[in-house]
Amino acid sequence: MRGKPITIAGTMISIALTACRATPPTHVETTVIDWTKHNITVRGKTDRNPIPATPEKIESGKQTFGFYCVVCHGRDGQNTGVPFAKALSPPIPSLASSEIQSYTDGQLKWVIENGIAPSGMPASKGILSEDDMWTIVLFLRHLPPAGSLGEPRAYTGDEYEK
Ligand code: HEC
Repeated sequence: MRGKPITIAGTMISIALTACRATPPTHVETTVIDWTKHNITVRGKTDRNPIPATPEKIESGKQTFGFYCVVCHGRDGQNTGVPFAKALSPPIPSLASSEIQSYTDGQLKWVIENGIAPSGMPASKGILSEDDMWTIVLFLRHLPPAGSLGEPRAYTGDEYEK
């Protein structure tokens, strides 16, 4: 009995949200969380990346990403080889997806700096420098094709090889 009004309300919200979107989301929850993150939670929308997107700087972002982000996001930012990517809640998204690429540069930097609480996405404040965070944003805008960089070494079984 108690669950019924909630189900009806949920269905109505679902219909309303589906009607506003070109591609209907699988889960209403995902849509609401996504909208909230893009418009409220994640700040820094108008902050501009002070680092120019030169090949050297993109490479430097890739190196820093390789040091601090690969264990969860894979070398390509698309979870390649990360065994638990889908098992986390929320799961680790592909950083090449339109959902993530539609953040502004400033928002991506804000996510890196502050993390996404209470998910597994950690804050880099005090660990990475401002320049490191901005160069990672450059790399995120120039991600390689999925799988093209192989798997993080941590997951290839080489950990204890001599
Ligand atoms: C311990 C695992 C872990 C590490 C290390 C990690 N992330 Fe994440 N990341 C996550 C998870 C889990 C999410 C999903 C968060 C969510 O959807 O709320 C995420 C989400 C993101 C997002 C998308 C935010 C969103 O709105 O979903 C970006 C961008 C990102 N990570 C970049 C990075 C970068 C860059 C680094 C390295 C500086 C990094 N992450 C390190 C686990 C990690």
